[in-house]
Amino acid sequence: MLRSKIAGIGYYVPERVVSNHDLAKVMDTTDEWVQERTGIVERRYVERGKDTTSTLGAKAARIAIERAGITPQDVDFIIFATLSPDYYFPGSGVLLQRQLGIPGIGALDIRNQCSGFVYGLSIADQFVKTGMYKNVLLVGAEVHSIGLDYTTRGRNVTVIFGDGAGAVVIQPTEEDKGILSTHLHADGEHAEHLAYINPGSHGGVHSKTPEQFGYPDQEFGGMFLTDKMLEDEDVYPNMNGKYVFKFAVSRFPEVIMEALKTNGMQPGDINMLVPHQANLRIAQFVQNMLGLSDDQVYNNIHKYGNTTAASIPIALCEAWEAGKIKDGDIVCLAAFGSGFTWGSALIKW
Ligand code: COA
Repeated sequence: MLRSKIAGIGYYVPERVVSNHDLAKVMDTTDEWVQERTGIVERRYVERGKDTTSTLGAKAARIAIERAGITPQDVDFIIFATLSPDYYFPGSGVLLQRQLGIPGIGALDIRNQCSGFVYGLSIADQFVKTGMYKNVLLVGAEVHSIGLDYTTRGRNVTVIFGDGAGAVVIQPTEEDKGILSTHLHADGEHAEHLAYINPGSHGGVHSKTPEQFGYPDQEFGGMFLTDKMLEDEDVYPNMNGKYVFKFAVSRFPEVIMEALKTNGMQPGDINMLVPHQANLRIAQFVQNMLGLSDDQVYNNIHKYGNTTAASIPIALCEAWEAGKIKDGDIVCLAAFGSGFTWGSALIKW
């Protein structure tokens, strides 16, 4: 049976390093608080006016394409995962396509937040193993730094997120390797607990407690973004941290076990688990629950923070570059995030 494999992988992070100490200069936080609760020491921010989500994605994509031994012209489909697109519309996939100079092929944007890369991998896998495409370019990229609240009010969210991009090229293979299975889940019941709701078409309709978001008396007059939203500075991501944490620590192990069970494996069979880099405490919790050793789990959140759709491909690429993932290894990817959405992929490298 035809399978799909990761034939090339690359990542790119902006040069500008922003430490916890830097953030403590503009908001009431400390390096100690952030490190203790999240494991994050620093993150990268783009230089505004120089890079965007799609330009970061293009830089990572060029590396992945070269490592796959192909040229951009060989790519026959693009999947772009991000929650921070260059434009509200069109999606960043077509902007990436323009930068790579490959007009005409399909470009699909997906919005599955921290699970975006795993969702994208599953989509690419289906296209490739049915024989429809031969070189799918999957990119996860984010520019968070431009949309965060740098006052103390936004500190619980702002300290967590960073910018970056990762990319893979997915090709068919007849060898005994590649993507073994993918597992996708979602539960929209929790949508507003980790969300960036303005601008949007919601008009206050979905929220059970509209007051919480400050728009019950709004005139919505056909605008995504109203003056009141701007006046109230109601234009930042919001997160119910404890609530997210609680769900993450149960969904991660569940979806990893689902992948293992599907393939008749146990946690001990995993050579490398690459969890979405949401919070070091979550990753450690998952590691302990599954009884995995330190060298079975790759974490790099201390350097980059949470880069959402980019976090898994960046970590996967770093682990591979460091020689921690070798041919034939069983690699498990697992993600959880806004939606809530969660998923996993089991790969024989
Ligand atoms: N610096 C200093 N203090 C902060 C802070 C910051 N950056 N952010 C929040 N605080 C304060 C709070 O205001 C609160 O103060 P109070 O007790 O005076 O009210 C206190 O710290 C505790 O806040 P709380 O939100 O309960 O902390 P927590 O232990 O839950 O840690 C998170 C907060 C965000 C680190 C944690 O909930 C978390 O990581 N959740 C998961 C988030 C996640 O993974 N999101 C991405 C999913 S893909």
